[in-house]
Amino acid sequence: MSRLLLSSKSVKSVSVDALVLGLAPATGKRPGAPEVLGGDDLPRATRSALAEAAVALGANGKPGSVHLVPGTAGLATPLVALVGVGAAPDHETLRRAAGQAVRALAGKGRVAFALPTPDAATLAAVAEGAGLGAYAFTRYKAAEREPVAEVTLLVDKPRDKTFRAAVERAEVLSRAVATARDLINTAPADLAPADLAAAAVQAAAGTSLTVRVLDEQALADGGFGGILGVGQGSSRPPRLVVVEHAPAKAKGHLAFVGKGITFDSGGLSLKPAGGMETMKSDMSGAAAVLAAVRAVADLKLPVKVTGWLAIAENMPSGTAIRPSDVLTMHGGTTVEVLNTDAEGRLVLGDALDAASAERPDAIVDVATLTGAQVVALGNRVSGIMGNDEEFRSAVLAAAERAGESFWPMPLPDELRATLDSPVADLANIGDRAGGMLVAAVFLREFVGDSAAGTAIPWAHLDIAGPAFATGEPWGYTHRGGTGVAVRTLVALAEDHAGR
Ligand code: BES
Ligand code: MN
Ligand code: ZN
Repeated sequence: MSRLLLSSKSVKSVSVDALVLGLAPATGKRPGAPEVLGGDDLPRATRSALAEAAVALGANGKPGSVHLVPGTAGLATPLVALVGVGAAPDHETLRRAAGQAVRALAGKGRVAFALPTPDAATLAAVAEGAGLGAYAFTRYKAAEREPVAEVTLLVDKPRDKTFRAAVERAEVLSRAVATARDLINTAPADLAPADLAAAAVQAAAGTSLTVRVLDEQALADGGFGGILGVGQGSSRPPRLVVVEHAPAKAKGHLAFVGKGITFDSGGLSLKPAGGMETMKSDMSGAAAVLAAVRAVADLKLPVKVTGWLAIAENMPSGTAIRPSDVLTMHGGTTVEVLNTDAEGRLVLGDALDAASAERPDAIVDVATLTGAQVVALGNRVSGIMGNDEEFRSAVLAAAERAGESFWPMPLPDELRATLDSPVADLANIGDRAGGMLVAAVFLREFVGDSAAGTAIPWAHLDIAGPAFATGEPWGYTHRGGTGVAVRTLVALAEDHAGR
């Protein structure tokens, strides 16, 4: 994670290893030559030399492009990155451009950004993109090129309170997302359920957060049949972690619930080999929840947030749960397990029921829940479902502001009957068609009522595709765990605190 600094130095005098400027597509004024954005105090000759270099390189200023050129006369930096931002970029376009630039400059120690940041929200986007882009997972091999260590954002008013807050928040968010990514990228041999629980204890150490870890004995005593059932095939027993931010003057209470399958082999309903390759990432929901609660504490948000990490390893063995076994979930609902690979809903059902018992104002669960999500929405757009249109829209608005892409999906009532079992209250699989919705309809059964007797507003985020990136890196997204949903959860907590 790189350090983020603010400075009012001029682009002519800032002495760092590289300077980042924007590039917008050619306009009518100067057809053919893309426009160099930022560095208002650049000498005209320097600006046109950079524009000429851009033309020579065929740079068109489109988002996703970045070109490195040697520092020209009039600059104190030996290298300039011209990053495409397109015409009239929105915040997410700038966030991605900043990430793209920082990734292209990996190997450089110190980088200055001179992209135009007229207000705090724009500065926040650039700072976040830079912070998120400066990442590498180095537990098992050194980075080919070290992530940029220090990013200086050049602004007119470096002491402006809103500017400083934006940069501090970007640092908190980047650190949180990096924590989530590190956990997701860790090999499953090194991240048993107890290790993920220990990571939660470690993330809370030295902060105001409190953590409770339920081990297999406590889970049995507490009646957590779903988590125990999924975990019983593994030699490494399951855990439930409750991590809580409870400030003195809390405005309301949110519960975040994360799916924490440290490895999903499918269990006895074994996955094909290819389907297992990315299944170390099946704890991405729990990682996002943990990271978000930590960020909420770092930001001292005046809202109570309880994170529930439902953690188990789904393995086939002589002790594993069998298709047709019946589990008694937390709260007493019985579930016939027809497919042991539909395990996420089992651990989440327990956690949703337990979270509901505290009667929070609202619940959000985050889960790499279904392959059907990937089929429906692909690898960059997550699904959002829920029992309350107003709350679902509020989460969607938070995601939009955070720069994370979600699309609303329905919970058709008729799908509930496809989950009927002749021997239990529910079966863990229903219609194959609309699999993402069926899974959510299953989860809805475990969301409890508020004091008023109506269902607690609940949103379900299916991040199966976006949680783990296997293709080429883009924007601020690296290969491997992405940390998706962390920023949305934090934005939602901010909204709830500010009501
Ligand atoms: N963890 C998987 C879902 C998944 C698939 C996440 C691909 C990321 C990429 C989940 O536990 C699972 O196996 N779901 C099954 C459910 C089915 C058996 C009803 C699925 O989607 O195939
Ligand atoms: Mn599964
Ligand atoms: Zn799974």
